[in-house]
Amino acid sequence: MAVTNLFCFTLAVVLCITTDFTSAQGQVARWCTISRAEQVKCEDLQRAIEAVRKELEPPVIDPKNPNPTGIPQFFCVRGEDVFDCMKKIENNQADLITLESGQGYFAGRYHNMMPLMAENYNDNMQDPETFYYAVAVVKADSAINLDNLSGMRSCHTGIGRSAGWVYPMGKLINRGIIQTNECNAAVKSVSNFFGKMCLPGALNSFYNPFGNNPTSVCAMCTGVGEEWCSSDDPYAGYDGAFKCLAHGVGDIAWVRDSTVSQMVKSGGFKAENYRLLCPNGNKESVDNFKNCEWGRISSHIVMTSGIREMQMVKLYREFLVNISAWFRPTGAHFQKMNLFDSSKYSVYDRSNLLFTDGTNNLWKLPEQTSYYSWVDTEFRGMLNDLNRCPVRIVRWCVLSEEEKEKCEDMLMAFRAKDLEPDLDCVLGGGTEDCVRMIRYGDADMMTLDAGDLYHAGKEHGLVPIAQEDYGDMTGGFYVVAAARKPDSYLTLFNLKGKRSCQGGVRTGDGWFVPVSTFMETTQIRPESCNIFENVGELFARSCIPGALEYSYNPKGTPVNLCEGCAAGGYRKCQRNNLELYYKATGSFRCLVENGGDVAFVRHLTVRINTDGRNAAIWARNRRSDDYEIMCKDGSRKAIDQYPSCNLGWVPSNVVVTGKHKSAREREIYWNLLNYAQQFFSTDSDSDFAMFSSGINQNDLLFTDAAVRLLQISEDKQDYRSYLGGEFLSMVENVERFTCSSSHKTIVNFSLLFLAIAFKFVL
Ligand SMILES: *[C@@H]1O[C@H](CO)[C@@H](O)[C@H](O)[C@H]1NC(C)=O
Ligand SMILES: *[C@@H]1O[C@H](CO)[C@@H](O)[C@H](O)[C@H]1NC(C)=O
Ligand SMILES: *[C@@H]1O[C@H](CO)[C@@H](O)[C@H](O)[C@H]1NC(C)=O
Repeated sequence: MAVTNLFCFTLAVVLCITTDFTSAQGQVARWCTISRAEQVKCEDLQRAIEAVRKELEPPVIDPKNPNPTGIPQFFCVRGEDVFDCMKKIENNQADLITLESGQGYFAGRYHNMMPLMAENYNDNMQDPETFYYAVAVVKADSAINLDNLSGMRSCHTGIGRSAGWVYPMGKLINRGIIQTNECNAAVKSVSNFFGKMCLPGALNSFYNPFGNNPTSVCAMCTGVGEEWCSSDDPYAGYDGAFKCLAHGVGDIAWVRDSTVSQMVKSGGFKAENYRLLCPNGNKESVDNFKNCEWGRISSHIVMTSGIREMQMVKLYREFLVNISAWFRPTGAHFQKMNLFDSSKYSVYDRSNLLFTDGTNNLWKLPEQTSYYSWVDTEFRGMLNDLNRCPVRIVRWCVLSEEEKEKCEDMLMAFRAKDLEPDLDCVLGGGTEDCVRMIRYGDADMMTLDAGDLYHAGKEHGLVPIAQEDYGDMTGGFYVVAAARKPDSYLTLFNLKGKRSCQGGVRTGDGWFVPVSTFMETTQIRPESCNIFENVGELFARSCIPGALEYSYNPKGTPVNLCEGCAAGGYRKCQRNNLELYYKATGSFRCLVENGGDVAFVRHLTVRINTDGRNAAIWARNRRSDDYEIMCKDGSRKAIDQYPSCNLGWVPSNVVVTGKHKSAREREIYWNLLNYAQQFFSTDSDSDFAMFSSGINQNDLLFTDAAVRLLQISEDKQDYRSYLGGEFLSMVENVERFTCSSSHKTIVNFSLLFLAIAFKFVL
């Protein structure tokens, strides 16, 4: 206020009025309603608040202070459902909503919301009753018990809610009554157990990311149009779930302790027709809920956005205290509005509008209360049970510190979304080493190029379970030979003496396709095991990362296969991202930086690293039309002509696992990746992007050019069926002259080295 006054003294009157106007405008409280009936009650509340304001207002209003009562402007904003309301509040299109504690947890966790007030069920502010019990209601004459719950028709208040979902389903899973075969798919596990259900919200995208939740989860819901299976479904909420049971549609309803008595009072139902089914298998009368409860649950909370300014939060609290005091049964303005009752709206046949009916007042939460502390440890334990995953951890094998860093970011990102199983990142000593770790069960997954898959599959039995898609769903890519435009004399047929950039030995794009092209064009004529010598003789020098490494080329010569590489010291020519010219992107960089005259790359490589699409210094000012590709007929074409000017086709990079992994484990791994890519496949609205490696790195874990992962069907989970005849015969043709593929030789040599080292130490 003082600051405003100072403003008024020093600044023009017009500005002052504007300032006051905006601050009055800022005092707005927008309630998000989730149903038609709630909207009607909310509008009544709005009228009641305006009536109170009129009473408190002085007869003449000072234009400089248009809101002398300090009561904020109250509006009702109609949301589609609770999830939509959470989004609206996060996006500053609404401010307040009452949420059940499980939904409140979700709102805090995923929409950055915070609790302000809790429903209190007694009139003692010192010792409030801010909890209730979850119960399972069945018909008194029903023979249903805990042993034959399976296949029963189940009525739920709504997905994610404490009494209707988290506590009872968590308990049933914890006790092994409901089995979980999949991870991140509690809805599916539960729906496999029950028969038909009405689980409102179960088709919401968060709980149904692939849209493949079984239709049985909403089969008993009766809403029309948008209402169907939403929080506005006639069978949603406590009263809805109870009616679902009472109407004979369902066999069991998961509600709260007061639901039956409330429905007896308002709906003409008879208490003696119902029983509670207890977690110990007993049945109890409906008022004996303290001996028959499925969990003690923190009461419903009024929440707002966690990023509202402190002074707005304070205002909301004071406002909520006001409306609770005015409109509660003994309140000063009770005759204008009965806030904690919905019977007036019985034409809509709904209860618990805005607040739980029968609430006594709103209790101001201690300042530090968060969504996390409002639900207790038992709730969080139940959530863990609900998300139980038969596989605890999956270990991703990475090739370098940079890859490990990205993998750890991925791990944190997955955790933030509660994805199961948990990820772990293990650093292997190279592709070959990782492949062995997976084979022997010391790691579970990694990504491999098609060329690597050939070896990993043939020698170590690794199986592909997912493949990258580069945006065209073709399952692979063309390899092209890129060259600088001014070097127009250069064709595929006169490479002799030039310098080549080849992303990596034994990769599809950096080795098998180019080498078989050299053979086809008879620029090399390999005999027995001399292919490395042949390539070394064809080019003055090359950068072929890994070409001198023991496991690929036991002889380790000729050295000019690595002379074109850019990294310094021990990094030079390593077959991982420490070598700057590694993989297709690195190979193109080699051409760009004049480390070579021809670069063997993927058909999209030039396109995605030029014309400003790659912000790295080496790529920033490159134009795509400074490059051309060389065709097998000896001509050169523009880079987009790859369909008619390529050297061959390579199947996409794959995610692999060990042969010993069961079909269920493979499915769980795939599901983890598939859930993850729902959140992280684009760079748009999250902190982590699976298919991006930052400005100065390329192709860490996945190829940056990938847009999604696709599952590889079970019958194709074998390197031969995945790679296909054409690629296989190309690889095998080149391999005939490589002679490094024998696993035995490698072991033999390593044993020899080990023996020497051992002697040396002694
Ligand atoms: C609460 O009500 C009192 C009057 O009872 C009023 O002075 C105060 O400004 C109100 N505050 C809010 C935020 O509604
Ligand atoms: C459930 O099992 C009990 C005995 O354990 C049996 O009496 C009852 O008929 C069964 N109910 C249903 C619906 O199958
Ligand atoms: C090592 O190589 C020899 C041939 O050089 C072969 O007979 C032997 O079986 C190999 N040993 C192993 C452990 O593979």
